[in-house]
Amino acid sequence: MKNYFELNEDQTIEYGMIEGKSPYAYIDNFFKYPDDVITLLHHIQPNFHKDGGTSNDSLDNAPQSENLFKKDHRTLDKPTGRKNYNGEYFKDMRHEFYSDNILPAYEHLHRVLLGMGIRQVPCDRRAVISNCFFFKKDPWNDYENNYWWPHKDAGYSALIYLNDNDNTGTNVYKCLAPDYEGEDVREHEQPWRPKENYELLHNLEPKYNRAVIFDGKKYHHGMNIHDDHFAGNVTRMNLAFFFHTLQPGDAPR
Ligand SMILES: [Fe+2]
Repeated sequence: MKNYFELNEDQTIEYGMIEGKSPYAYIDNFFKYPDDVITLLHHIQPNFHKDGGTSNDSLDNAPQSENLFKKDHRTLDKPTGRKNYNGEYFKDMRHEFYSDNILPAYEHLHRVLLGMGIRQVPCDRRAVISNCFFFKKDPWNDYENNYWWPHKDAGYSALIYLNDNDNTGTNVYKCLAPDYEGEDVREHEQPWRPKENYELLHNLEPKYNRAVIFDGKKYHHGMNIHDDHFAGNVTRMNLAFFFHTLQPGDAPR
């Protein structure tokens, strides 16, 4: 049977540095059948990312199915009682399923990381994780004065961009204000954060079927929404791969 996640033999890799010290890479032509990856994802219903769809005004109040990745994505947080806007002013959805077919992609990214001098392993080498996002054209989405949810990940993160027309990519920031993460603030309650709290260090540029891999633990980062390109009926879509440092005592995965 065809593996939709088969790797392209004709990839090209370009390396760079953020702030002259943190290596990142672009891997172009990542999948052999990127159109089929998209078709596959379109045939599987994504879930609301984290809590979502709780408003009566939601664009889609479909019930959430069980989240396979609760421990990794803070969905066990206690409710704050504040309004969650996912499904109202924006829709932030995520595929989360397991497939052995994704193993070669994780192994390849792992090897690329080793080549960059980074010894990290996949958080879960069978996890297929997407980000699917669009937003409503509304003053609430004030991208002129704010950045979308700068956050940190567990370690190196890879994103494979799957839009053939994309002007966003991923911004990498230096956080200039006290870090609100871990405080009582949730992404989908206050996703837009004031620009003056961040210095933009780098934009990882999007390209269809391009993987970017960078240190998501060292740097705050987030999608670069700066105009109405994804306001309306076009969904920004990528696949995400998370890595972390193997801790003593961790079972090999
Ligand atoms: Fe991230």
